Amino acid sequence: MTRRAARLGILTGGGDCPGLNAVLRAAVKAAVGDLGWEVVGIEDGFEGLLVPDKVRQLSHAEVRGILPRGGTILGTTNRGNPFAYKTVREGQVVVEDRSADALRSIGELGLDGLIVIGGDGSLKIGYEFSRLGVPVVGVPKTIDNDLSATDVTFGFDTAVVTATEALDRLHTTAESHHRVMILEVMGRTVGWIALHAGIAGGADAILIPEIPFSIQHICDKLHDRVAHGAKFSIMVVAEGATPIGGEMVMQEALSRYREARLGGIGQRVGEELAARVAQEVRVTVLGHLQRGGSPTAFDRLLGTRFGAAAVRVAAAGGWGRMVALQGGEIVDVALEDAVGQLKSVPPNGELVRTARAMGVSFGDGR
Ligand code: F6P
Repeated sequence: MTRRAARLGILTGGGDCPGLNAVLRAAVKAAVGDLGWEVVGIEDGFEGLLVPDKVRQLSHAEVRGILPRGGTILGTTNRGNPFAYKTVREGQVVVEDRSADALRSIGELGLDGLIVIGGDGSLKIGYEFSRLGVPVVGVPKTIDNDLSATDVTFGFDTAVVTATEALDRLHTTAESHHRVMILEVMGRTVGWIALHAGIAGGADAILIPEIPFSIQHICDKLHDRVAHGAKFSIMVVAEGATPIGGEMVMQEALSRYREARLGGIGQRVGEELAARVAQEVRVTVLGHLQRGGSPTAFDRLLGTRFGAAAVRVAAAGGWGRMVALQGGEIVDVALEDAVGQLKSVPPNGELVRTARAMGVSFGDGR
């Protein structure tokens, strides 16, 4: 009697990011091509387990040509948490636990394993399912780079490259008009994108959530630059940056079924500065341009390594684990540890000290 091929489910959850398709392609090539397994793609994250007709077989044909493509061919959502699933009934928001429905779908699909490609939120959901007995392997993705178990997540490099290019462009117009240009970047509650892009793009001030700022200290920096003959200044503001003793600026508060949506601090800082400095101030919000488009070579490579590694971990029966990059090597770690703690910028770490040595102000008066 021939044994049926193992069947892996795969889904992409949470906000999209460049490199997701590289992971999907690598996982399908490694599982279907190398091991002769079947791979079932689940559309729109975990929601695909709750809604009919959202699964499809993935073969070489489906993943051909997708390596340089942004987004995810499977679709994604950051509102489809089966443990707190939101629907609107007769005008009322209803949030319910539909994890039993998701478990039933996993059984009906005959999945021997489930690869969850996601950030902190989706990996936590994956971990909850693994505690309920689902064989899960996690793959860390997010432009925010805030997962502590991996040195870097794919998508981050592309976001930093996009933000750095934006800073280069802002430099030339800032210089022509003798203006203060502010670029607000994403990153949620951590400042990795702002810090990396700010250093690479030669920013004069970088505001990050890990180092609360005061407007007065930023003004001091801008005045100092003018006093030394620099007629323009460039600032990067992470969306989660907060004034000393203040709060994060939000577009939408945290709810049971989704994370808070940050944004608006760049405008706030811009208005406060405009009232205090002689130069004109302009604000650019880079927004989802950081998430869209083709991944960099680094993210394609990392995504490919993660996708292939996730299949290797599944083949070895390493359920409840997440692939990660540590010291240049691909390793796997317990999902439980991977979702425990966010990785934030060390305020006195080497990168911050390097930036300070370049004369960058963090708005904290140091
Ligand atoms: O986590 C990735 C991220 O892009 C954050 O940097 C940002 O705060 C958030 O997602 C935006 O989410 P949405 O696409 O739902 O607006």
